[in-house]
Amino acid sequence: MIGLPELRQQIDQIEHDLEQRLPQLSEQDALESFRVEFLGRKGRIPQLFKQMGQVDAEFRGEAGRLINELKQRATADFEERDLANRTTLRQRQLVSDQVDLSLPGVHRALGHLHPMTIVQREIESIFMKMGFDVATGPEIETEYYNFEALNIPADHPARADWDTYYIGETHLLRPHTSPVQIRVMEQTEPPVRVICPGRCYRRDTQDATHSPVFHQIELLWVEEGLSLAHLKYVLEIFTNEFFGEGYEMLFSGDFFPFTEPSVQVHIKAPDATDWLEIMGAGMVHPAVLTAVGYDAEKYTGFAFGLGIERMAMLRYGIDDIRTFLTNDLRFIKQFS
Ligand code: DAH
Repeated sequence: MIGLPELRQQIDQIEHDLEQRLPQLSEQDALESFRVEFLGRKGRIPQLFKQMGQVDAEFRGEAGRLINELKQRATADFEERDLANRTTLRQRQLVSDQVDLSLPGVHRALGHLHPMTIVQREIESIFMKMGFDVATGPEIETEYYNFEALNIPADHPARADWDTYYIGETHLLRPHTSPVQIRVMEQTEPPVRVICPGRCYRRDTQDATHSPVFHQIELLWVEEGLSLAHLKYVLEIFTNEFFGEGYEMLFSGDFFPFTEPSVQVHIKAPDATDWLEIMGAGMVHPAVLTAVGYDAEKYTGFAFGLGIERMAMLRYGIDDIRTFLTNDLRFIKQFS
């Protein structure tokens, strides 16, 4: 038999243990084993209920009430502790997850134009403002457009000036943009005023100033009454716009089968001593006008071919043409 005082003692002991240990259980794992120890199926409080049978029938009601009260208090205390633990945990998490809104954002680099594209578009826009249209032609050309129609027949030694990649017997990778002149004139009646930008290929060994792939811009203006003076006028506007004011310009004699006379155009910066060669040019050869069915007695025209890489190298002070092709971000990012 268990007497009421004895039961009370046990209850006091459990209560004492609860009070002592509960406040220290800040870890959820420890709290859970604590709950099992006191309130679990075989825990200390359910054990008390099992002793009820040994309590005097007289006191049984009182004993049940006491144990029930203990169970309720213990459950309430445990829940309170559990809630407190969870709240601190959550608060700690909030603090550690906190985002510092004053930190600078992560910079995502936007793409930007390649220096070659920048320069090509700038040249195009200068000539478009002067009333030139932009025309393009195929990179795989026939001998006819690339040579014959440009007054360079099959056995002409000048063919050697263009180290051409051939594709079979009759086709080739164009070594210059001049064939686009022919294609445009075949499709248009004069007056013709076009620029033709595009990629070209030559069997050149790569070095600082040569690349087997490069870009040109061709210009062609055909109309009645044009002379070299008009070419010079157009080039002066171009030089002023692209390089700046105060440049001197010089034409020296040259030879191209498709122009007569042919010139080499040089410019000199106001404070420079050296002349820079910027393009080949000339008056369109009557044989070229005739080849496209124009009346060479009535019309005259002029043309030039300009290397875009060379323009970009002069503009930005780049000394190696290969930098345009290697896609080194350290180089390209300077043009953003
Ligand atoms: N096609 C020539 C070349 O690639 C450049 C050139 C010279 C183009 C004179 C022209 C011109 O239109 O008139 O070397």
